[in-house]
Amino acid sequence: MTPSPIIAPSILASDFSRLAEEVHAIEGAADWVHVDVMDNHFVPNLTLGLPIVQSLRKATTIPFDVHLMITDPQRWAPGYAEAGAYNVTFHAEACDDPVALAKTLRAAGAKAGLAIDRDTPVEPYLELLPYLDTVLIMTIKAGFGGQKFLPEMLDKVRDVRRRVAVGHLDVRIEVDGGIAADTIEQAAEAGADAFVAGTAVYGMADPAEAVRKLRALAANRMGNSM
Ligand code: DX5
Ligand code: ZN
Repeated sequence: MTPSPIIAPSILASDFSRLAEEVHAIEGAADWVHVDVMDNHFVPNLTLGLPIVQSLRKATTIPFDVHLMITDPQRWAPGYAEAGAYNVTFHAEACDDPVALAKTLRAAGAKAGLAIDRDTPVEPYLELLPYLDTVLIMTIKAGFGGQKFLPEMLDKVRDVRRRVAVGHLDVRIEVDGGIAADTIEQAAEAGADAFVAGTAVYGMADPAEAVRKLRALAANRMGNSM
């Protein structure tokens, strides 16, 4: 049986003055909402933090997929789990002890995710998969929405997919960056089963319809090959 794809619209591409309405616009169509936290240190950009996530959490029931592009995630990530995030993903490049942080996040009631940025090889992290619920493979350089999809990043998706299959692991493989109607199929074919899309959802006149279209494209290719 082919698992169904997770579609996670990124509110980075939404209107920040109307965040709750923007999330409501994809409720019922999307599986998760992707929340990009950037701290102006780990990445040059600055977005939003815990107080906004806490407020937004009260405004919707859709699961939050929090993507922390921040330094010192050991200090800050547990707060997002405590705020009710469904999945909290921190960056491998920012964390000395990913297994310890993953355990902390799970103990706080969240799924634990590890993100791998464009210039980071995934191989050293494959042995950590049993401690993780999500691996997020960046298909751009983390920091800004609207960048061009990098197909060569899909080799990392294939590597993770192979290891997940061999170990019979329960790990979501998420891709983030440049995911749109013309790129989602190749990501699904490579083995991704969770798809972040900012511009390709919130840049459209009907975000919910955009989610449905992306889901159909991904579902059609998932489990087809590696
Ligand atoms: C960028 C963020 C992404 C971003 C993707 O570092 O992690 O989640 O919102 O935006 P698009 O889908 O426009 O590439
Ligand atoms: Zn993201």
